[in-house]
Amino acid sequence: MAAGALPGQILITGGRVYDPATGKSRRVDLAVKRGRLVEPESLDRGKTTVIDAAGCLITHGFIDLHAHFREPGREDKETLASGAQAALAGGFTRVCVMPNTEPPIDSPEAVRALLEKSAGLPVEIMVIGAITAGQQGVELAELRAMRAAGAVAFSDDGVPIRNGQVLRHALYYAKDLGVPLINHAEDPDLRGAGVMHEGALSTRLGLPGNPALAEAAMVYRDLLLAADTGGRLHVPHLSTAEAVAQVRAFKAAGAHVTAEATPHHLALTEELLAGYDPMAKVAPPLRSESDRRAVVAGLQDGTIDCIATDHAPHTVEEKEQDMLQAPFGMIGLESAFGLAHTALTEAGLTTEKVLDLLTTGPAGVLNLELQPLQPGAVAELVVVDPAAEWTFGPEHIHSRSRNTPALGRRLKGRVRATLSPHGLYLGH
Ligand code: DOR
Repeated sequence: MAAGALPGQILITGGRVYDPATGKSRRVDLAVKRGRLVEPESLDRGKTTVIDAAGCLITHGFIDLHAHFREPGREDKETLASGAQAALAGGFTRVCVMPNTEPPIDSPEAVRALLEKSAGLPVEIMVIGAITAGQQGVELAELRAMRAAGAVAFSDDGVPIRNGQVLRHALYYAKDLGVPLINHAEDPDLRGAGVMHEGALSTRLGLPGNPALAEAAMVYRDLLLAADTGGRLHVPHLSTAEAVAQVRAFKAAGAHVTAEATPHHLALTEELLAGYDPMAKVAPPLRSESDRRAVVAGLQDGTIDCIATDHAPHTVEEKEQDMLQAPFGMIGLESAFGLAHTALTEAGLTTEKVLDLLTTGPAGVLNLELQPLQPGAVAELVVVDPAAEWTFGPEHIHSRSRNTPALGRRLKGRVRATLSPHGLYLGH
């Protein structure tokens, strides 16, 4: 497997093109010249790199609304450059990075610095700015100036906004600026010191539990505020049946709300913690099987708009601590398609629907319009083999960190290649 610069001319042949912008499939070859789609006849065959896509679907590159690249401050865990390689290997061509860096991204200067640093990387980096200064939950950050500097959304990621009035004011700003607000959906007091889902298993293990109620209470308050202000709320990483039901009800009543689910919450459950494995410690926690099914049903019926990874790299030293000490989070970019495709197709969703949830779904949350896959469009493509069965291993990880409980899992559906104007990833 290799990642490198995009060759001048590429022909992707033998596959089926699924265009999420139109919802249509066709059996055609796709040709790319200097980063744009062109007519295949215009390629100089002698100078063309050919990608054999037999049995594969070719579609728009994936978009991740929720990743942590740890720059600035914790470049030992991930940098913009290493995160971009991990993203490309996972089929992503655009990634939103969260502002819980050290220091947090809460000023227009910080937004601009990240955008400048990420120019020329193989995936497009979009920046999410902090809602409050220093992520302290008290004073609103410079939302208007950050938006002007290029921020695409706002969040105090990882730190829920406890003060409803602060979030209310932020929602008015978000409405005016035409961007979504993302509030980490866990009531901090109900969550308390919980390190896993609260239930029979946490009791048996003797570990402090984080109840489903912690998510449901926060999501409900945030939905009320969104409905009241008319501001755009995007609910991150839905993990409980209760919260999925609330989003469904508020959407039906016309509230301006969107939501995401992570591959880990739709594919994995609390059972992974039975051996006290801190690799499976994440916020919000892996939940019960009935919660997992409710998240899948939410993706199926459109309550949940998209899949987002919550890629959260941590060092081996930190993650090898015990369940109480280890930090929350798992990496997710490289395994996202495999995990989601395995779980969702098992539940009866089509591969095309899974691709929608990774392309048009997240694009819709940010009001981005995806160009149809036809000559003239910028080449942002992923080639996936829906039938490939494989075991996710360390050799598939491009991130600087290795913290994921997905290692060793059998997955169905695999990214074979990703192309962006600045990069090419070729898997096996
Ligand atoms: O598990 C998590 N890790 N959840 C979050 O909300 C934050 C993230 C991180 O930054 O490590």
